[in-house]
Amino acid sequence: MNVADSELVMGILKNKGYRITEVAEEANVILLNTCSIRENAEVRIHGRLGNLKKLKENRADTVIGVLGCMAERLRKRLMDEQKMVDLVVGPDEYRRLPEFIDNAFTGEKGIGVKLSRTETYDDIEPFREEGISAWISIMRGCNNFCSYCVVPYTRGRERSVDLESVVADVKKLSERGFREITLLGQNVNSYNSEGNDFADLLASCAVIDRSMRIRFSTSHPKDISEKLLQTIADHENICNYIHLPVQSGSNKVLDEMKRTYTIEHYNSIIDKAKELIPNVSFSTDIIAGFPNESDEDHDATLEVIKRSRFNGAYMFKYSPREGTKAYNLEDNVSEAIKTKRLSEIIDLQHKISFENNQELIGKEQILLVEGSSKKSDQFLAGRTDSNKVAIFPYSEDAGVGSYVKVKINRATSATLFADLIEIVLPGNEKINLTA
Ligand code: 5AD
Ligand code: SF4
Repeated sequence: MNVADSELVMGILKNKGYRITEVAEEANVILLNTCSIRENAEVRIHGRLGNLKKLKENRADTVIGVLGCMAERLRKRLMDEQKMVDLVVGPDEYRRLPEFIDNAFTGEKGIGVKLSRTETYDDIEPFREEGISAWISIMRGCNNFCSYCVVPYTRGRERSVDLESVVADVKKLSERGFREITLLGQNVNSYNSEGNDFADLLASCAVIDRSMRIRFSTSHPKDISEKLLQTIADHENICNYIHLPVQSGSNKVLDEMKRTYTIEHYNSIIDKAKELIPNVSFSTDIIAGFPNESDEDHDATLEVIKRSRFNGAYMFKYSPREGTKAYNLEDNVSEAIKTKRLSEIIDLQHKISFENNQELIGKEQILLVEGSSKKSDQFLAGRTDSNKVAIFPYSEDAGVGSYVKVKINRATSATLFADLIEIVLPGNEKINLTA
């Protein structure tokens, strides 16, 4: 989400004639796009600001800005405590960035943190490097108010980008040679544009270019519909992969988290999806150590991991966020127990990822080739429909953006290793060996 927002900000500034530099010391403007979801995300930004202090001392005319959720959350505090910060701009005020930057060059500090009920930036083209994968924000904000989560406060109410605007974006990206788009929103299933729901949007995007993979994130279990599952099943190029955060396996904890579903409902979605979509796979988010979480609650979380057999999970310790409902609950699971529970969750998930991957050995998969493998350019890396990275020996014909058929011959919990069988569809850019 933040990468997509940074591309949006770069789009806005590029329209005003700004260029991007990779070298902080050369920049006239340095903007940090921030996240408030857990405390350590904020701690990291304070560290980054600390590093920029020296730079600002050497070059006082460099404008330094804090964007995103921390800007919204910490506003004045940030400006007062961090003297080198010139501007603080929240997620709904990026249009005013050029104005804030102009003012900052004349020495005037700026704060723009109002939230909007309508801003979707749908007329602004994000700055995207050439490549094969792109993000498209299809909605902003969140109305769910999960009791632990700061997002509804920092990003405001839900609003959807017009269907026509998303479709136009997909067409443009297809013409530029992109082969994969990810439709993004805090809760994509609440998408609504003039009576079109998320399933309608997915179907409209899928028919534009059948050689383009369509992904999406994130889905809330409370409103995954059968229509959506059927739409995924009906279109070959909509990936059979659903990120479906469960957060906890305990109904008591889910209730206190205000997730508005039971674990039985969650399980029934997984079952329905498996029934309708051949080879569907799931990933999830899990929070360990929510207030009052007992050993039994934790066991229930391990149980849902075992039952769902996720392909992957983002796993976190609970982090109290000021202003949320759960902040008023005592953070009474000790750090030691949080650490122990999190490591049990991680170990179990790794074991399941490993087993899931072993099951693929000997099977054929279609990969979208992304480039050389990170470790060696004698190997290429691509992704399966289910979003797994697979490595196979270099072949001149398997350029970036090509689809190749491979056979998996070995697997770890994180990576598949494969032999190339054939090129299914050539890509648009050859990869050269440097060695
Ligand atoms: N503490 C820990 N994890 C959190 N998340 C959101 N808020 C918190 C918090 N206060 C996690 C949830 C969510 C993901 C994006 O971040 O699992 O799905
Ligand atoms: Fe946060 Fe819940 Fe909204 Fe996700 S659905 S962004 S966890 S409030």
